[in-house]
Amino acid sequence: MGTALSLKGKSIAITGASGTMGKALVSELGKREAQIIALTTSPDASFDTEINGNQKIEVLTWQLGNESALRDRLQTVDILILNHGINVLGARDSEAIYKSYEVNTFSVFRWIDLFLESINESKHIAAKEVWVNTSEAEVNPAFSPLYELSKRAIGDLVTLRRLDAPCPIRKLILGPFKSNLNPYGVMSASFVAWAIATLAELGFRDIIVTINPITFIAYPIKEFWRSLYFRMFSRCKP
Ligand SMILES: NC(=O)c1ccc[n+]([C@@H]2O[C@H](COP(=O)([O-])OP(=O)(O)OC[C@H]3O[C@@H](n4cnc5c(N)ncnc54)[C@H](OP(=O)(O)O)[C@@H]3O)[C@@H](O)[C@H]2O)c1
Repeated sequence: MGTALSLKGKSIAITGASGTMGKALVSELGKREAQIIALTTSPDASFDTEINGNQKIEVLTWQLGNESALRDRLQTVDILILNHGINVLGARDSEAIYKSYEVNTFSVFRWIDLFLESINESKHIAAKEVWVNTSEAEVNPAFSPLYELSKRAIGDLVTLRRLDAPCPIRKLILGPFKSNLNPYGVMSASFVAWAIATLAELGFRDIIVTINPITFIAYPIKEFWRSLYFRMFSRCKP
C-alpha cells in the first residue's frame, strides 16, 4: 500500500488509448475529473473529445521507437499510464519474438525512462507517478508464450526500476477482460477501469483486478522474492 491518491484535476496520459482498456480508462478517469491526454499510435483513431459534456481530452499520436518525440509534453503530465500491448497468440517465429518484446517490454520501458527523466523538481516527486499495465500473465499462464515472456520481462524490469525510482510506479495486474486483444475475456473493460481507479485512489501500489484467486496469492509472493533478490544482487548507479 502507498498513500491515498486524488485523481481530480490530475493530468493523466494513457498509451494504447484507442484500444478497449484505453477507452475505458479515458472514460473512467474523465468521470473522476482528471485531464486526459490520449496517446495513440493510430492516427485515424476517433475519440469522444468531450467527457461529461464539457471536459475536453487532448489526443496525441506517437510512434513505436520514437517515444522521445513527446519528451517535452511529459513535463506537465502528472500520471503516465502505459497500457499499450499486443498478443501474438501462438506465433513463435523471430518476427513475433521481436515484435512482442519491442511493444510489450522495450517501448514500455523507454516511456518509463522518459517520464522519470521529466522529474527534475522536488514538487514533481510528490505529484508524479507511472502505472504499468503488465498482466496477471506475470504469474499465470496466458496460453500465449510470447505474451507471457514479454509481459514477465516488463513486470520484472518495473520491479527492478522501482527500487530507485524517484516517484511511485504502480503495476496493473489484470485478469481476462473482453477486448480486441482478448475476445474471450470474462470481465468488462469498464468494470476493470473502475476497479483500477478505485484501488489507485485507495493507494494500492500493485493493483490486482481478476477473477482468478491464485493471482492474489501468487503475485504478492513472486513480487516479494523478486524484489528482495534484485535488492540484494544489484546496485544503483553511484
Ligand atoms: N484483454 C485482457 O484480457 C488483458 C488482460 C491483462 C492485461 N491486458 C493488457 O491491457 C492492455 C490493453 O489491452 P486491451 O485488451 O485493451 O487490448 P486492445 O484493445 O488491443 O488495445 C491495445 C492497444 O495497444 C496499442 N497497440 C497495439 N499494437 C501496438 C504497437 N505495435 N505499438 C504501439 N501500440 C500498440 C493500440 O492502441 P493505439 O492504436 O491507440 O496506440 C491498441 O489499441 C495491454 O497491455 C494488454 O496486454 C489485457
